[in-house]
Amino acid sequence: MRTFRAPGRANLIGEHTDHTDGLVLPAAIDRAVTLEADLGGPAIVLRSAQADGEVVVAADGSQVPADGWGRFVAAVAAELDAAGREPIGLRGQLASDLPQGSGLSSSAALEVVVATALCAAAEFELPPLELAALCRRAEYRAVGVPSGIMDQAASLVGRAGHGVLLDCGVLTYEHVLLPEDHVLLLIDTGVRRQLETSGYAQRSDELQAALPALGGRRPAEVDVGDLDRVLRGVDAIPARRLRHVVTENARVLAAAAAFEAHDLAAIGELFAASHASLRDDYEVTIPELDALVDLAGEAGATAARMTGAGFGGAIVALAPAAEADRIGDEVEEAYRRRFPDHTPMVLRCLAADGAGEVT
Ligand code: GLA
Repeated sequence: MRTFRAPGRANLIGEHTDHTDGLVLPAAIDRAVTLEADLGGPAIVLRSAQADGEVVVAADGSQVPADGWGRFVAAVAAELDAAGREPIGLRGQLASDLPQGSGLSSSAALEVVVATALCAAAEFELPPLELAALCRRAEYRAVGVPSGIMDQAASLVGRAGHGVLLDCGVLTYEHVLLPEDHVLLLIDTGVRRQLETSGYAQRSDELQAALPALGGRRPAEVDVGDLDRVLRGVDAIPARRLRHVVTENARVLAAAAAFEAHDLAAIGELFAASHASLRDDYEVTIPELDALVDLAGEAGATAARMTGAGFGGAIVALAPAAEADRIGDEVEEAYRRRFPDHTPMVLRCLAADGAGEVT
């Protein structure tokens, strides 16, 4: 029996920038999907502690289940098959302490843990960012969401205590040390969303409509000071989507520098500006996310913003470790008073190492 683990991720900053080859700064977190498996055999047979029944797919990913999480398993196996992996299966049990639908990338963690175990089964290896790209293709194959590479990359190349500054166009990354006296608070609105049914693809289409104005450059290459000129003549909605992406790419670089300089005030301002841009220009926040960000600030968080795709899900806050429990409790209580129909959830996390075999 061998054990594999793939963490979820919290995006610190750089939201909706990955699918136009931009910059992101996520961290893998100490919550993960785990797979205990016997490697070998012609099929992939999986049970999950979180769901009833058994998923059975051929080791080459043929036989795709009609719905449910088995689609991700089949898609990963099919993509690995296309990449030249020998079709060797496994029989195993999945478990997860990652909440689903909170924007912490439970589906990417599932893809990555299955991919990691299947690679081990066939003694097949790919560089981590190639494996991330493969898992991203699997996500698209499984549910048709045109997401970027961030979630799978963070799950694969995260490092304890660090964020990952990733250029999704060039596919290079470096680790950025996070403040050692801080923890991450992930505070869930209790508003569930699935990327399949959210406006993710619609926003991405609106953004695409603005790209011809860049004359072949990617948004990360546009100077913020040049933005007004670039956007002249672009329709209002695509222009707002692109303004978010261009300014957000700049904020990622500024945030990486602020982490480097341990400039907590600057990090707070950058997170606030990112959230405002996602609210006003990219239009993916909801009142519950806006409220959580305000409440976290009032309770004394150093920085807070929505994390993930939006339309529900969670915020990420950086909080001084000694104050984090109090801040989490205060935010949760105030949120419950304001939204009595929702069930918020506070997770206290640390940045963790990326996926691999647990030895
Ligand atoms: C989802 C996608 C990511 C990224 C974020 C928004 O998590 O899976 O690729 O686009 O939304 O930043």
